[in-house]
Formats: sequence, C-alpha cells, structure tokens
Amino acid sequence: MAKVTIDDIMIEVPDGITILEAARMIGGHVVPPTMCYYSSLETSGGYCRTCIVKVEKGSEKDPRPMPKPVASCRTTVQDGMVVRNATSPEIQKARKGIVEFLLINHPLDCPVCDQAGECFLQDLSFEHGDEFSRFDFKKRTFDLIDIGDYIKLHMTRCIMCYRCVKVADQLTEERLHGVLNRGDASEIGTYIQQAVDNDFSGNMIDACPVGALTDRTFRFKSRVWFTKPMYAHRDCDKCCGKVTLWYQGEEVLRVTGRKNEFGEIEEFICNTCRFDKKHTQDWVIEGPAKISRHSVIVQNHNELALPKDEVQILPDLPGSTSHKKIES
Ligand code: SF4
Ligand code: FES
Repeated sequence: MAKVTIDDIMIEVPDGITILEAARMIGGHVVPPTMCYYSSLETSGGYCRTCIVKVEKGSEKDPRPMPKPVASCRTTVQDGMVVRNATSPEIQKARKGIVEFLLINHPLDCPVCDQAGECFLQDLSFEHGDEFSRFDFKKRTFDLIDIGDYIKLHMTRCIMCYRCVKVADQLTEERLHGVLNRGDASEIGTYIQQAVDNDFSGNMIDACPVGALTDRTFRFKSRVWFTKPMYAHRDCDKCCGKVTLWYQGEEVLRVTGRKNEFGEIEEFICNTCRFDKKHTQDWVIEGPAKISRHSVIVQNHNELALPKDEVQILPDLPGSTSHKKIES
C-alpha cells in the first residue's frame, strides 16, 4: 500500500495505481478532469493532458518535486507522494491553456451538435477554460462521413483522444478505422471509407467525449435535456443487456450504455440492444437513471436528480460542482 496526499487529503491506496485512480478514490474536486482516459479501455490516456497535476513531493524515498506537471492518468503513485490539483493555481492556469489547445480546431457549433448537454469538452471549457482564444487562424474542416449505417463522423469536432480506436481494438473483432497521419494533420479515418460494421461498434459513440461520432438513428431528434433517461435491462446473448433508454413521451429515442459518475461506460452494450430494441416492450424498466445534479440533463426532471447529500458544492471553485461516488 502507498500513502498519497492529494490536495491536502491523505489516502492509502494499492501500489501501482495511478494518481488519477487515487484521486477518484477520494472523489469530489480532487479528481482531475479527463478527456482521453477511459477506465474500461486498456492503454487509454496520455493523449490530451487535461488530467495534469503537480507532484510537489515524489515519494518518501525521493522527496524531490517533479519538474513539470504530469499526466495523472499515466503516472503511478509512490509511497509519500504529495500531489496538487484543484489547490494549485499553476495547474489551473496550465489547464486553461490545454482547453485552449483542444478548442483551436473544434467548432463552436454546440447549438446544432447532438452531443450538447453531455459533451465533455463543453463541460471542460465551462469549468476550466478561458473566455478568449489566441488562435486567429482558420479552423480545419472536413466533410461529414457516414461510418456504416449507424455512425456519422464529424471529424471537424474530433479532439484525437483515441477512445474510439481503443473501443474498436478491444471490443470488436475487426478494426476498420484508426488515426491517419501525424501531428496537426492527424484524423480519424476508415481507410477506404469502409463501414465500421460489427456488433460493438456503437460503443464508440458513447466513448467519444465530443460530438465527433454521433448516432445516426438519434441525430437531430431532440436535445438531450428534453429526454428522460431510464435504466432498463433485457436478456441478451451478446452483451450485459443493461442500458439507459432515453424517452421523449412514450417513444424511446435512443439507447446507450450506462455511464458511471465519471461519464464512462463500465459495461459495453451490443448494437442489437442499442439500435434494434427501441420499444418499451423489449425491456424490463428499472426506474429513472442516476444523473448528476450538475448535468443539464436533469433540467425539468427533478425526480432524476441525485439526493442532496450525494452532491457536493465546492466553496473553493466558484460555480463548480461535483458529486461524490455513488453506488449504482
Ligand atoms: S472521433 Fe471522438 S472518440 Fe474518436 S478520437 Fe475523435 S474525439 Fe476521440
Ligand atoms: S486524461 Fe490523462 S492525458 Fe488525457
């Protein structure tokens, strides 16, 4: 076991876990935001730098500070390590710069983007970004691409987090897409425009932190805050069968996996559950989905908001809210 102190909170954690995992064990404002790390996808993380922290003391054996901010999703804890995240003005400033970088090519088309209301980048810019950009050049643009019958790729919105590539690598039998080119010419491509056509490809839509991969069966049907998410399950021979149904009135507009408190799917679902089972009679309804009180999705749905004691309003970060770990 290793004793680690993050933002003045000490915790004992198993050896070999990352600073991010240790921070998530504490919860609340101590947890750095993430754009590319995804706990259920191996080797994710290390691309976006959103999760940077300051290591003030390396370990008990070697107390020297680390010279530069480090990616908490890729740095393992050491016994005696002292880390700062929300309590470091230097990290807050550096994170603003990272948000600015992530936004240099990202269009501000939230009013027409299907991901609005559940977009990691929207939340990140709101909580950690600045109100200006120093990027005076033209943003790069791409044509829209249909990746198979179910997924539309808006490469213009992609932040190159690689999550969809990991989903394709780790969940599907044959990966037909990946990152082409390098540096600022990188893009998600399907090589010869091949359809991504396999049983678990829809999970890329859930894993994509922005609106770059959207569900063609849900596009432009509604704003997410007008829908009502309900947990449901069915017996499925391909996946866990545990989903969230997004209702508008009596109609199921879309089906997604269930996200945890960090916005990540822990149990991936198959395309049959996601795209072919859109009737209430296909499902056993469990009840309202647990949605963070700080999400726009709970607007007008007071019955879905978390109980007050599961929500923590943080006095040291004006306007910022977070919630503690909840059991699902
Ligand atoms: S398409 Fe989405 S999931 Fe894939 S790299 Fe781009 S932002 Fe990440
Ligand atoms: S979340 Fe750690 S580098 Fe992206």
